[in-house]
Amino acid sequence: MSAVKITVRKNGPYRVEAPEGSIELVDADGNNFDLTGKTAFSLCRCGGSVNKPFCDGTHSKIGFLGAESAVKKAEETPKA
Ligand code: FES
Repeated sequence: MSAVKITVRKNGPYRVEAPEGSIELVDADGNNFDLTGKTAFSLCRCGGSVNKPFCDGTHSKIGFLGAESAVKKAEETPKA
């Protein structure tokens, strides 16, 4: 079993679980995000969070569909 677990939440964020201090999250310039005291956090997958890279729950307000759900929905939609 790995020390880090990343779960793709259905129509939601990437949930990251890891022992405190075992994971580093950096921005494009290499600056660290403060993860002090955190053993789990969620990363935005929908693009709508105002607190990127973290999820702020916006995905549920905008009706975000993860790729697997979006494909399924497109296949179910009758063609005109
Ligand atoms: S996945 Fe939750 S706000 Fe984007």
